[in-house]
Amino acid sequence: MNSALKATNRMSVRIRLSKGLIRLANGMKFLGLVVMKPDDLIEFTQSSYARSHQVASWSDPRLVEGGLFENETALLERIPIRSGRLLLLGVGGGREAVPLAKQGFEIIGVDFVPEMVAQAQAAARRRDVEIGGLVQDISRLQVPAASFDVIWFSAALYSSVPSRARRVEMLRRVHQALRPEGYVVCQFSWNPTLAVCSPLARRARALVDRLGFGLRRFECGDQLLLDREFHHSFVNEDEVRSEMESGGFLVKHLDIREELCKGAAILVKG
Ligand SMILES: C[S@@+](CC[C@H](N)C(=O)[O-])C[C@H]1O[C@@H](n2cnc3c(N)ncnc32)[C@H](O)[C@@H]1O
Repeated sequence: MNSALKATNRMSVRIRLSKGLIRLANGMKFLGLVVMKPDDLIEFTQSSYARSHQVASWSDPRLVEGGLFENETALLERIPIRSGRLLLLGVGGGREAVPLAKQGFEIIGVDFVPEMVAQAQAAARRRDVEIGGLVQDISRLQVPAASFDVIWFSAALYSSVPSRARRVEMLRRVHQALRPEGYVVCQFSWNPTLAVCSPLARRARALVDRLGFGLRRFECGDQLLLDREFHHSFVNEDEVRSEMESGGFLVKHLDIREELCKGAAILVKG
């Protein structure tokens, strides 16, 4: 055997070992996800965003100054409302809140990290606008009925709520908070490749479900994103429509961006 081939064989053992270790690490990460119940997953995400470097990066003046992304401006243009009360879910450091307030909306920003709300309000004041703030978990939203013209889920935030049941309950609360002619802009994660779980993942999931701990019903599309937060990616359009309809909404417009693994829906009361 020549020396180049021997080197290749030695390398392939190392590559096989490495692949095995990566599979093991992914398996451990999967267990890290399934041992948490929905309340734990919300707390897990909250503890990630409450870290000072997260608050600093979402409040970075360059991010806030950048304002709405192109796709968000396009979503805004699709709704026929240009003023009124807008509930911004996941306000962060105010990137969307400041330009929306400047455009004439009366903004109430919601975030479960008090420091994010404070940063968003300070960013708004520095730019000569005022925004209101609420420290709440968006999946347990508590605001007066029929009090908003627009409810806006920030950057795929909808997907950070664990379990279909909890997301549908959140939609019902949003439905209640919206005025009869109001609009919801809902951005979410999208990844059809997660529709098929590997046989190993299916077996592990069945075992965990039988043991009765964690989410109990793991849904295809559930992940821990960047080891920072829970995310459920929708895996097909039927799943999006049926979930939104269960929350009492009609899907007026659906925009899927395969290349960005993101989607957005504009909803009205059904
Ligand atoms: C990805 S950051 C986006 C911040 C800002 N909207 C932006 O795009 O610059 C998500 C924000 O949502 C907040 N958040 C995540 N899950 C939440 C929940 N369940 N309830 C309330 N706030 C939440 C986080 O604290 C964080 O400020």
